[in-house]
Amino acid sequence: MHIYKVGGAVRDRLLGRPVSDIDWLVVGATVEEMHAKGFRPVGADFPVFLHPKTGEEYALARTERKSGRGYGGFTFHASPGVTLEEDLIRRDLTINAMAEDEQGNVYDPYHGQRDLTARILRHVSPAFAEDPLRVLRVARFAARYAPLGFKVADETLALMRQISASGELQALTAERSWKEIERALMEAEPQVFVQVLRACGALTDLMPELAAHEQNLAALQRAAERQQPLNVRWACLLRGLEPAQIKALNQRLKAPRECQELASLVGEFADKGDKALELDAESLLEMLQKFDVYRRPQRFEEFIAACEMAAQGQSYPQGEYLRGAVAIVRAVDVKPLVEAGFTGQGLGAALREKRLEALKAYKNG
Ligand code: CTP
Repeated sequence: MHIYKVGGAVRDRLLGRPVSDIDWLVVGATVEEMHAKGFRPVGADFPVFLHPKTGEEYALARTERKSGRGYGGFTFHASPGVTLEEDLIRRDLTINAMAEDEQGNVYDPYHGQRDLTARILRHVSPAFAEDPLRVLRVARFAARYAPLGFKVADETLALMRQISASGELQALTAERSWKEIERALMEAEPQVFVQVLRACGALTDLMPELAAHEQNLAALQRAAERQQPLNVRWACLLRGLEPAQIKALNQRLKAPRECQELASLVGEFADKGDKALELDAESLLEMLQKFDVYRRPQRFEEFIAACEMAAQGQSYPQGEYLRGAVAIVRAVDVKPLVEAGFTGQGLGAALREKRLEALKAYKNG
């Protein structure tokens, strides 16, 4: 039995990047031998095991063929006879198809090191097409390694185009797609993810609302430069879509709640945010109430951040103005009103009146 480090761990070490988790490949072993050594299988019909001590993943060398559509639609053929080269050839990219043994020798039958040096994301073989999710993976790697100068190889982009045109992307589950989208958005240059998906025609299947729309990718890029969280990045990407489109996209991809929420709020209120300095006190208060800035101040802060990202590097005095308005309405004390005998709806109305007065003073002050 031979054990190799494979995939991202080898790639990122050669790139001089930090390695987070290590995937191991086991060649020449049977399932029974793995059990005997104390490895625990991760699933009943999946030849991947967890190390009894480190918990790291050890996969038996396998060849893979497609047997159906979508996730779980794979059958695996793992046997002690599957060689290292046979396993590596069915992987997605040459830079992900390298292995390293315990002595640190690198096995690179498909020239991953050459492509690492040339900064090229190139598929290994036609087996790339076995998993349509790889179209998203390549776009994600392009976003991650764009600062290093990586580009997608022409022939790989052509294959991605074919996969997109075949309609196979429609078979991806929302969960698998979202996971890639989420990771891509958190990369260094998330706008590259969208550009690559657009270039290969995948956007039409994955996010048709965006395909039909020239969105503000500069805002997304800026959000990444400014280390903004996922929901702000997502909201920046969706800004400018119609509310119904934002809703449809969110629901189809099953985006997490905080992403859905912020994208919808930015869709509805971004224009108002931009015009904050001209809003009258009534409209300003209405907006702050809708955001529930009393209980959800953080969410409003994220809204302001999303608006700032779209300001193209120009100063955004609306941000400070809105923050000031929030502080004002939040400072209005309910206690004197309660003590004055207000209750229920009357209390609500009196509180609103006090906040409005405070905002008027803020506007004039
Ligand atoms: N792999 C693949 N096709 C996929 C998923 C994974 O070929 N759809 C292979 C690649 O060789 C990849 C390895 O499995 O390098 C491990 O996959 P994963 O852990 O998902 O990604 P990493 O390459 O380790 O990259 P990341 O840094 O994004 O985790």
